[in-house]
Amino acid sequence: MLDIIKYITNPFAYLCSIEFRLRRLRRRWRTMSKIAPLRYFLRSRYAVEATHLECEAFGRKFSSPVGLAAGFDRNGDMIDSLASAGFGFIEVGSITTREQRNTSKPSLYALEEDRALIYRGQTDSAGVEKVIENIKRRHSNIMVGCNIVKGDLTPDEDAPTEYLKLFRPLYQYADYFTINIAYNSTAKCYTPYDKDEINAILTPLFEFRRGQNEYRPILMKISPDITDEQVDIMTDIMLETPLDGIVACGGSIGRHGLEKSASVMHSIGRTEGTMCGHPLHERALEVVRRIYERSKGTYPIIGCGGISTPDEAMAMLEAGATLVQICSEFIYGGGASLRSINMGLDERIRAKEQQAIEAAKAKEAEEAEAKAEAEKAAETEVTTPNDKANENNG
Ligand SMILES: Cc1cc2nc3c(=O)[nH]c(=O)nc-3n(C[C@H](O)[C@H](O)[C@H](O)COP(=O)(O)O)c2cc1C
Repeated sequence: MLDIIKYITNPFAYLCSIEFRLRRLRRRWRTMSKIAPLRYFLRSRYAVEATHLECEAFGRKFSSPVGLAAGFDRNGDMIDSLASAGFGFIEVGSITTREQRNTSKPSLYALEEDRALIYRGQTDSAGVEKVIENIKRRHSNIMVGCNIVKGDLTPDEDAPTEYLKLFRPLYQYADYFTINIAYNSTAKCYTPYDKDEINAILTPLFEFRRGQNEYRPILMKISPDITDEQVDIMTDIMLETPLDGIVACGGSIGRHGLEKSASVMHSIGRTEGTMCGHPLHERALEVVRRIYERSKGTYPIIGCGGISTPDEAMAMLEAGATLVQICSEFIYGGGASLRSINMGLDERIRAKEQQAIEAAKAKEAEEAEAKAEAEKAAETEVTTPNDKANENNG
């Protein structure tokens, strides 16, 4: 309430707010999606073409492992501009069955010094039908994931029906699905972490997929707030069912790691909502590492949470992620941040490959040297008894 009064009495505060900046940013990317010359401009300015970034997951090739996480292109109307800027894949959503608006004001807080954001309120979605219209219109063949979530007004017990209602019409337009059970920006958050409850949501989706000609990978997005034991339960669900992977993680309802934003936190008070951005990174890494170790690296993991530099993206890949996603960093830094992460990641992957080649060469040389020494020793052993025999005979 105080914030609304502040905005009415001081419109300049609204114009400077992160909410307004994000709205303007989204409008810009939406416009650029529609205009071909602007998409060429984006490609020439931000895209990084580097063979070392190319990777494979779900049987598909990606130009970069860096994708856009759900929450920026909620309705699939920016796919072409985002693809031109150099993302390797785009996750649209979260998508709800019917249109729903986030009426919380403000819905977003910037904690710039910590490179973090706090998002609160309901999911903002134009509804599944509108999203399908938008996805159909895209020109780019970039991999598009559809992140689906239960509507805020739907009772929890109706969740399985609701997810199926989203999954069915989107099936032919999505390249993969993310079943979002991690989204908790409202106090009444829906986060089922019971095996039976999750299986009740997933089983109808697997059954529907079984009857289709084309295979669409299904991933589950989890929260960083769950305990390690719950992470193991989620991993076991992946190992025991036809689930194809996990997106780890969404935002956190915790406020840890906000070291430099004490004054902003004091002014916004104890607001509910999801914290995203840099402070999430350590926990997201831990979760990815844990899933990777338990599943012995047999499933693709999309690592997400607090990636704002190439080193953080690389750390996520080294922890076991096949692909990574960014959201807050893109909101702060736009195409320039994406370019810097892609370029830095390319350098690091290239350097790692070079190191591996040099290590292999060094090992080969060492082995050859050891072999030569062993041969020399054997030769000496063979000649020595004869020499001794000759000496004795002499
Ligand atoms: C403004 C905003 C809106 C978001 N909306 C969604 C959403 O609708 N669905 C979802 O699964 N995640 C949503 N997220 C979470 C992101 O997808 C991501 O998991 C999280 O922000 C961690 O990544 P980051 O640290 O790079 O931002 C949102 C994040 C932000 C910042």
